[in-house]
Amino acid sequence: MDKVLARDTEGPAARPRRRAALISAVAGVAMVAAAVMVTSPSASAGTTLGASAAEKGRYFGTAVAAFKLSDSQYTGILNREFNSVTAENEMKWDATEPSQGQFNYSSADRIVNHARSNGMQVRGHALAWHSQQPGWAQNLSGTALRQAMLNHVTQVATYYRGKIYAWDVVNEAYADSGGGRRDSNLQRTGNDWIEAAFRAARAADPGAKLCYNDYNTDNWTWAKTQGVYNMVKDFKARGVPIDCVGFQSHFNSGSPYPSNYRTTLQSFADLGVDVQITELDIEGSGSTQATTYGNVVRDCLAVARCTGITVWGIRDSDSWRASGTPLLFDSSGNKKQAYTATLDALNAGGTTTPPTTTPPPPPTTTPPPSTTTPPPSGSGCTATLTLNQWQGGFVTNVRVTAGAAGANGWTVSLTLPSGASVTNTWSAQASGTSGAVSFRNVDYNRQLGAGASTEFGFQGNGTGPSGTATCTAG
Ligand code: G3I
Repeated sequence: MDKVLARDTEGPAARPRRRAALISAVAGVAMVAAAVMVTSPSASAGTTLGASAAEKGRYFGTAVAAFKLSDSQYTGILNREFNSVTAENEMKWDATEPSQGQFNYSSADRIVNHARSNGMQVRGHALAWHSQQPGWAQNLSGTALRQAMLNHVTQVATYYRGKIYAWDVVNEAYADSGGGRRDSNLQRTGNDWIEAAFRAARAADPGAKLCYNDYNTDNWTWAKTQGVYNMVKDFKARGVPIDCVGFQSHFNSGSPYPSNYRTTLQSFADLGVDVQITELDIEGSGSTQATTYGNVVRDCLAVARCTGITVWGIRDSDSWRASGTPLLFDSSGNKKQAYTATLDALNAGGTTTPPTTTPPPPPTTTPPPSTTTPPPSGSGCTATLTLNQWQGGFVTNVRVTAGAAGANGWTVSLTLPSGASVTNTWSAQASGTSGAVSFRNVDYNRQLGAGASTEFGFQGNGTGPSGTATCTAG
């Protein structure tokens, strides 16, 4: 990204529980943990960022540089505190396709393998971006560039299929002012390049959440924020497969944390997408910096569809803005005041967050009001459907919420209206395409803590289902 303004811009179980999910004794462990959470919230307050966020059904991640994984201090903090990672540079176009058609995943794989073997989820960053393109792509234009971009999206998303929680499919496509698109070689291939990238990503990895990611979109009154909002609203209305919006949230005096940040997050969530804070760093020090970190965490926890926070590096010395000391650990790896404020804000957020489902507005009707679905009290699960219907087709998003015992696997069953058929499913494995159909969890969303939620969706022809469906845990 350009360095004009200060600026620019990620639900697992608690780390011990998440790690336990990798071993066969997980069910019993999770049930014991769930019982503790319900009966004694303070006793279950997380002692690490990841564990505490997981108690709120969220993740807490960091950007990771592959070459630092041999630094034991760095890796020690990473493994102790975080349950999600984003490759800082290693999944970008210049890194993964240095020559056209020749893919290199060695550095990215180091990060993905480290994450998976330590029970962390992975955010993919970034498939299509005007910056950090390989030289050969910078020299392309028109149809050749469009095809190269789509092939890149398809190849990389296919290679990592099933391993990525969420992809930044398109990064930083909006201009810094005016509310319109940024000029770039990709933009010059046609205004539909963004939706083309999202469709290619969905086809390549139907299980990954697909995000649009940008910076300076934190302040609700800014034209850029409104431009991105209108694009997401349009995508949802037309059934373009978008699941989430990433807010980079690089804050400093030139681009400060805005008091309307929570309004921004909630407004996007109200369109029917998850929101994620994807590259958080806050320049400053001491109590001022700490207070702002706390505010950001409280804003995310207040928005049911804010599914996680990623900080853009671990120690201040790891930051792209190291001189601004914007991170949670000092350059010696010590916890800063900002760390304590972040953990305290996470722990103050309670033990679970009841899911709020706000359906996206159908193209021609008034959106229905938000509804809150409390977690079921028993050992099962519930499934709440949100329908976006248009003439001839639909997208149904399904929120699965585990009961008090949590869930180790789940299946949602429903009957489609006559004439309807499923054409595409994400974040679940579908059985059947018409009539009685069912959807089974995929690997990354199999395990749900007590009262925790996950979402999947499916697209189809005809009239889609809405309301509730049968959910079976186990
Ligand atoms: O690895 C080479 C090294 O061999 C060489 O000696 C050195 C000389 O400059 O460069 C090194 O590469 C640098 C790379 O970071 C790894 O440190 C690149 O020059 C440098 O441009 C690159 O900067 C990255 C930047 O994206 C590029 O746009 C930052 O690390 C990374 O934090 C930053 O991340 C972006 C997000 O992707 C999108 N949002 C904004 C965010 C901050 O700019």
